[in-house]
Amino acid sequence: MKKKVGIFYGPTGGKTESVAKRLQKAFGEDLADVIPVKTSKAADIEKYENIILGCSTIGKETWNAERTKEDWDLFRPEIEKINYTGKTFALFGLGDSVTYPANFVDAMGIIANIMLEKGAKIVGQVPSSDYNFTDSEAVINNQFVGLPIDEDYEPDLTDQRIINWVKELQHQFA
Ligand SMILES: Cc1cc2nc3c(=O)[nH]c(=O)nc-3n(C[C@H](O)[C@H](O)[C@H](O)COP(=O)(O)O)c2cc1C
Repeated sequence: MKKKVGIFYGPTGGKTESVAKRLQKAFGEDLADVIPVKTSKAADIEKYENIILGCSTIGKETWNAERTKEDWDLFRPEIEKINYTGKTFALFGLGDSVTYPANFVDAMGIIANIMLEKGAKIVGQVPSSDYNFTDSEAVINNQFVGLPIDEDYEPDLTDQRIINWVKELQHQFA
C-alpha cells in the first residue's frame, strides 16, 4: 500500500466515529485521513484511490423513509455520483447482533449494493461464520461484504477484528 487511505464515516459522535479513528491508528495516522460523510461530496472521495466507508445501522425504516437529515441520508446520493474507475473500496458497519440479529449491519449491505451496481471494486470481505446473527443484507455471496463491528455486545473482539482487517487491506489497497 503506497497511497493514503480515505476513511469516510457517519454518523459523527458515536461508535462509528470511534471505530473510524481506531482504523486510522491501525494504518498509521499519517497513512489515513478520517472524514465525516455529512460534509463530503463525491469529489472528496475521488481524491483517494483507497477508500473506506463506514456506517451504522439504525433501523431499516431509516432507509425506507423519505430523506432525513442524518449523515448517510445526506451522503447517499453522492455514492451514485462517484467515478469508481481505478478505485478500491472497503466497508465497515457498526451494528448490534444480539438485539437486531435479523437486520445485523443491514446498512452496510444497502450501501454496498448501490456501489456494486455502479461497478465498484470492493475488497475486505469477512466470513459470516465469525458472527452470531440470523440475517443481514450485508451478506453478499455468503460472506460479509465488509467488516461488521458490534461494540454493544462484542467490544472485546473489536481490536483483533480491526488488526486482521487492516492487514488484509494493506495487501489489497494500491
Ligand atoms: C433505534 C436503533 C435501531 C438500531 N437498529 C439496528 C439494526 O437494525 N441492525 C443492527 O445491526 N444494529 C442496529 N442498531 C445498533 C447500532 O447500529 C449500534 O449500536 C451502533 O454501534 C451505533 O453506532 P453509532 O453510535 O455510530 O450510531 C440500532 C440502534 C438503535 C439505537
